[in-house]
Amino acid sequence: MTDLHLPLDRAAGRLSAQIAAGFRAGVRSGRLTAGTRLPSSRDLARDLDVSRGVVVAAYEQLTAEGFLVARRGDGTRIAPLARPDDPPSPAAAPPARQDPPFPCAAADPTYAYDLWPGHPDLSSFPRDRWLAAARTALRTLPNEALTYPDPAGVPALRAELAGYLSRVRAAHADPSRVVIMNGVAHGLSALLRLLRADGHTALAVEDPTSARQLPMIAASGVRVVHVPVDCDGVSVEALARSGARAVLVTPAHQYPTGVVLSASRRAELIAWARDVGGLVLEDDYDAEFRYDREPVGCLQGVDPDRVVLLGSVSKSLAPALRLGWAVAPPAVAERLRLHRGYTDLGAPVLDQYTLAEFIRGGVYDRHLRTMRRKYRARRDALAGALRAHIPGAVVQGVSAGIHLYVELPGGCDEDEVVGRAEQAGVSVAGARPLWSSRRAGSAPPALVLGYAKHGEARLLKAAELLGRAVTHGVRG
Ligand SMILES: Cc1ncc(COP(=O)(O)O)c(C=O)c1O
Repeated sequence: MTDLHLPLDRAAGRLSAQIAAGFRAGVRSGRLTAGTRLPSSRDLARDLDVSRGVVVAAYEQLTAEGFLVARRGDGTRIAPLARPDDPPSPAAAPPARQDPPFPCAAADPTYAYDLWPGHPDLSSFPRDRWLAAARTALRTLPNEALTYPDPAGVPALRAELAGYLSRVRAAHADPSRVVIMNGVAHGLSALLRLLRADGHTALAVEDPTSARQLPMIAASGVRVVHVPVDCDGVSVEALARSGARAVLVTPAHQYPTGVVLSASRRAELIAWARDVGGLVLEDDYDAEFRYDREPVGCLQGVDPDRVVLLGSVSKSLAPALRLGWAVAPPAVAERLRLHRGYTDLGAPVLDQYTLAEFIRGGVYDRHLRTMRRKYRARRDALAGALRAHIPGAVVQGVSAGIHLYVELPGGCDEDEVVGRAEQAGVSVAGARPLWSSRRAGSAPPALVLGYAKHGEARLLKAAELLGRAVTHGVRG
């Protein structure tokens, strides 16, 4: 049996997370190779002097992430796809010094209850703590830091993000792979340029998908190919048939259905990318907000050479900050850095240092914990009230994020329900515009409801009004 080398620090927090981190590190360093059989949870628990539940939780987490496979009668093994990092290549050297398509139309004060999706609770933006972080940054920055930044981002923020994403999202992130972008949208549009330059003519997207990205993809000159999503996430079989060699996915919480990409699909997707020499663009949408189970690590952590992780603080803090990141294979990261250098010379420096300080001081973690509690209570209130007021509705995507996907009872006319809800003062989004034209006709009527902005009492009232809109929106 391989010596697993899983050092545990009993004073350093959750043991199952430490065990999972130890296994990931073992795979990445090449110490644990594909196919290696792991000890049973009982044996490992005994060796490590922890309860069996701790090991089971770690194994389940790693299985969901695609690092392990468990088969009846064959125990648990390192997954065939898990593979070590390549030794650094010359390209991996750290960079040298140096609806409406536009979402601003979202908040509409004419509606008493705004359930339009995609917006966090802006009234919870931690103004005082952000200000304190900005003060600290300004007070401590040397004058030289106020010059043009490295277009990939200031080193302090890239280092903080690399640490944060490794810890919280199980990403394979070191500062040389991190490029600061103005949000996921900016990361996507920059990557589209690179894909185009590499001869890609098509980008596969999930069907249904966020309507925001489509104009951006169209503007890049890359053709959009829609690939269906089912209850396991994106269909890799359909992706393989599509001919595209790059795909944009939302594995943590599919937008808009809320499906989490299953362990087997994660493995298939990585295998597909390796097969076609392709690239997976992982939009880490809603990953910060998961309520009923452990967050599944990002896909990028499974194959950092085939996956670019895109994330931002738009949902965790505020879209207005326009701060995000790409974690990319070193050669791609360098090209993104050059792209920023050629197009805009990088992101605003003071904001970058402020975010770095915000993460460094643990304030970001605390804010996320607070928001998770708040959003969970709101989700419970809205999901429960919808079930009570709209019998026959199927409420999906509840385990994470800040929106629900609600399939309306058969016979409902989606547009009619949206119109009646608006008349009653409830702003909601119908799901049909998010489906490809080929599938929109057969898609069940559904609503996408954001619940981040309102407290529980208002959500209960909104659900009651929606229930009435649905009763009147049944055809015939
Ligand atoms: C699925 C999805 N990903 C990403 C974004 C854009 O996020 P960012 O503000 O980070 O550019 C949006 C916008 O709402 C979205 O719908």
